[in-house]
Amino acid sequence: MPPIINISEAKDYVGQIVTVRGWIKRRTGKGKLNFLRVRDGSGIFQAVAFRPTLGDEKFAQVKKLTTESSVILTGEIRADARAPGVPGGYEMDLRDIEIVQLAEPYPIAPKEHGVEFLLDHRHLWLRSDRQWAIQRVRATVIRAIRDWLDDHGFLNVDTPILTPAAGEGTTTLFEIDYHGQPAYLAQTGQLYNEANIFAFGKVYCFGPTFRAEKSKTRRHLQEFWMVEPEIAFCHLDELLEIEEQFVSYIVQRTLQERADELKLLERDTSKLEMVTPPFPRIRYDDAVTMINEAAARGVTVPPKDEPLPPLEWGDDFGAPHETYIASQFDKPVFVTHYPTEAKAFYMEPDPERPEVCLSADLLAPEGYGEITGGSERMSDPEKLLEAIRKHGLPEDAFDWYLDLRRYGSVPHSGFGLGVERTVAWITGIKNVREAIAFPRVLGRVRP
Ligand code: 4AD
Ligand code: MG
Repeated sequence: MPPIINISEAKDYVGQIVTVRGWIKRRTGKGKLNFLRVRDGSGIFQAVAFRPTLGDEKFAQVKKLTTESSVILTGEIRADARAPGVPGGYEMDLRDIEIVQLAEPYPIAPKEHGVEFLLDHRHLWLRSDRQWAIQRVRATVIRAIRDWLDDHGFLNVDTPILTPAAGEGTTTLFEIDYHGQPAYLAQTGQLYNEANIFAFGKVYCFGPTFRAEKSKTRRHLQEFWMVEPEIAFCHLDELLEIEEQFVSYIVQRTLQERADELKLLERDTSKLEMVTPPFPRIRYDDAVTMINEAAARGVTVPPKDEPLPPLEWGDDFGAPHETYIASQFDKPVFVTHYPTEAKAFYMEPDPERPEVCLSADLLAPEGYGEITGGSERMSDPEKLLEAIRKHGLPEDAFDWYLDLRRYGSVPHSGFGLGVERTVAWITGIKNVREAIAFPRVLGRVRP
């Protein structure tokens, strides 16, 4: 019996007869010769069916194959630099075939489909080359996230998904019925991280988070994955150093391990190669000046080449503002010291200028927007209580959070990195919805 191998291992079996189990992407050719484009989850290659070597009966079976039919193929692995596929360079000279199931006519044709059609068929769309490559990049991004944090003294302590109050503003809460009491799907694990640092020093939580975003954009999901590191005895400047090391590691490791996938996605990786520490840092004030000068000059921004709107001091950036700021730098750029009023209740105001806070957002290049948001946290119990009241948050839901400032309070900081935005940026896809296997976007919960 020939060994059963993965397509990704073909290079180790040149000249040998092996078995591969997978699915037919496409069948082409005519006469005595048929080409099967085959995928098995690990890779993609071509199997060549030649009637004289395969025999009439088996060749007749090959000719019946429809797109997505499942098969067990046996044949000799040949090296050929021109052979298409991922990783490419190897093909199979077919000697035997077993059809596991002859697929019904497949709804996704190689022709263009509308995005709603594709999202309705997401369970099938995931099999396409591009979607396959994106999910493999995502898995590596997640692996890199965990490895870096685990290797730098962070303890993974997961935080609850069912929570009693808002962590990131009351306008995007998903409310559920918790045995007759209202509860909310977590928008963030941060507040629990802040409890955990007093037990473990440096922690991170990593899981799905939920935001009832009321608009459909290229950058927003209703359910997205976020990694949130939190550090005791840490000020804003140290936080930014951690972030730039972390983000650079994720990008460089993905470039190394997923070169084939990024090539398949036709990603120009030259900008990504430059993602190394340090990252530029600018203040919100300077960003506003840059934006307003550019707006006055009539600068336009992609993707729609709209004129850049001016920005009033105090307002949050819109997508065009983020895109413009990021376009002025080769690397991701930190924008720090946002107006306190525009940010979450827990951010520490700048002691020298309380109208701005010790916050930092990291904007990715090429229009991918904010990939991390973080800050130094308020450490004084009185000031924090005042902020909770000012934001109209229920005081009794935050009593435990105030406790953290009563028993050994320390300066501390943390941030959250959105996995889908990071994957969208690294893969170069336009919309975050393709960066997760089953996206939850406004108006859609299936499949
Ligand atoms: O800036 P955000 O809202 O920060 C927090 O939630 C903090 N509690 C994090 C912390 O300091 N521990 O979200 C952090 C990141 C954003 O920069 C973005 O990458 C991503 O999460 N994000 C979203 N991604 C997809 N869809 C959405 N609706 C997102 N909202 C935020
Ligand atoms: Mg943010």
